[in-house]
Amino acid sequence: MNKLIENIDFLSPADTDVNENIRISLDQNTGKSRKLYIESYGCQMNFSDSEIVASILQKEGFDTTSDINEADLVFLNTCSIREKAEQTVRHRLTHINGLKKKKPELVVGVLGCMAERLKTKLLEEEKIVDLVAGPDAYRDLPQLIGQVDEGDKAVNTFLSREETYADISPVRLNSNGVSAFISIMRGCDNMCSFCVVPFTRGRERSRDPQSIVGEATDLFHRGFREVTLLGQNVDSYKWSEVENNKARLEKKEVDSIVNFANLLELVAKVSPDLRVRFSTSHPKDITDEVLYTIAKYENICDYIHLPAQSGNSRILEMMNRGYTREWYLQRVAKIREILGKDCGLSSDMITGFCSENEDEHRDTLSLMELVGYDYSYMFHYSERPGTLAAKKFKDDVPLEVKKRRLDEIIKMQSRLSLSRNLLDIGKIQKVLIEGTSKKSSDYLQGRNSANKVVVFPGENKKKGEYVHVLIESCTGGTLIGKQV
Ligand code: SAH
Ligand code: SF4
Ligand code: F3S
Repeated sequence: MNKLIENIDFLSPADTDVNENIRISLDQNTGKSRKLYIESYGCQMNFSDSEIVASILQKEGFDTTSDINEADLVFLNTCSIREKAEQTVRHRLTHINGLKKKKPELVVGVLGCMAERLKTKLLEEEKIVDLVAGPDAYRDLPQLIGQVDEGDKAVNTFLSREETYADISPVRLNSNGVSAFISIMRGCDNMCSFCVVPFTRGRERSRDPQSIVGEATDLFHRGFREVTLLGQNVDSYKWSEVENNKARLEKKEVDSIVNFANLLELVAKVSPDLRVRFSTSHPKDITDEVLYTIAKYENICDYIHLPAQSGNSRILEMMNRGYTREWYLQRVAKIREILGKDCGLSSDMITGFCSENEDEHRDTLSLMELVGYDYSYMFHYSERPGTLAAKKFKDDVPLEVKKRRLDEIIKMQSRLSLSRNLLDIGKIQKVLIEGTSKKSSDYLQGRNSANKVVVFPGENKKKGEYVHVLIESCTGGTLIGKQV
């Protein structure tokens, strides 16, 4: 019989809400003269950008530190996705103000999406800030810091159509030494009506596939065993020699286009022992070619993060998502057909979007149930200045209603996660070990192909190795088993 362990407590959900995600730089001691403390908020893209920032500044005489009190330079790499994300940063700046009073020479910079959204306004609103740099301006940081050193304030929020930081090899700040993130594109051209990202990150552009494969190969040689390819909409990845390198093309006869399926294949071929993941897929753009490529390579993980946002077609249309409920369900059916029932599926959901009624909310609940998500990131709608929704629609669902609906979808997801995990009991799964379990050093922790956390007694194995685990029990967030 299926065994369910409810109160074993080494177990946390596979991931946390984007809201609560904060990353702090690690200690680096290469004898540099100044110390950079960098705190990152928001999505994986931002965490990945902080690694680019650290790399750029390393060359300029900065080591990173995890202790803000030791820092000469404090950077907050910020997120604007919801109002709460910006409030968190403003509170943090108030705290840092206290530090600056004791250490007036401390340089305080705001990077990322909030910097891009507010630009020079940030300098007026937050007096403590010396430097403001948007996501495409990081190469300019040494110059901007120089300006601050001269006693001026410094701002660069120029958005580029080309910048991909392709040649910069990121300093891995938050790595377990096993998994790493690789940015494959920047920006977003989708204009979902609720979303601030197209305004803060600019136009979509893809990175040269050779530099992506090069980075993956280098990581593999350094002992990494998993890469996650990152983009706001990975399915629209497209690299064309014609558009991107006219000079090189003169020597070539044909235009070669690399799409996302081709890129996945290129990265998968780096080594069969390198796992490949990716995020985020878009329901309107994910192709059968991508699904067949995932099926073809054992090392491309069977897990797709496919945000639905809502289960109701009228709301989806207002959100400008470019698909209906039926289209979404048909894509999920195709995923199940090509990749099988065990393929991990997760989503993002927004409750209480403008004019959403109870029936439409129930459509979201029923979509979740029909799909049977393994996991979801769930939010209530937060109006963002300047977005299409802020201009066109009234944010008219009362906060209590948004929160109650959020609560209902969270409860639904907990139920679904548990029932999906129960289906794994009795199966033998290949797990990549990421380290010891956070709650018990006798246990190792890793992930299966579907991205679920698996915990098992660690006998003579270490991180970075693959093991086969027989799943014997579970909670809603974790599978528990033994090596076979
Ligand atoms: N590119 C990804 C999403 C990036 S933002 C995609 O298209 O799915 C991450 C998630 O934040 C979104 O999927 C959405 O669920 C949520 N989000 C974005 N804007 C929001 C807003 N204004 N209020 C609440 N949640 C929002
Ligand atoms: Fe935002 Fe939509 Fe682009 Fe995702 S696809 S980043 S939700 S505009
Ligand atoms: Fe936030 Fe910008 Fe990412 S708004 S979610 S940090 S792209």
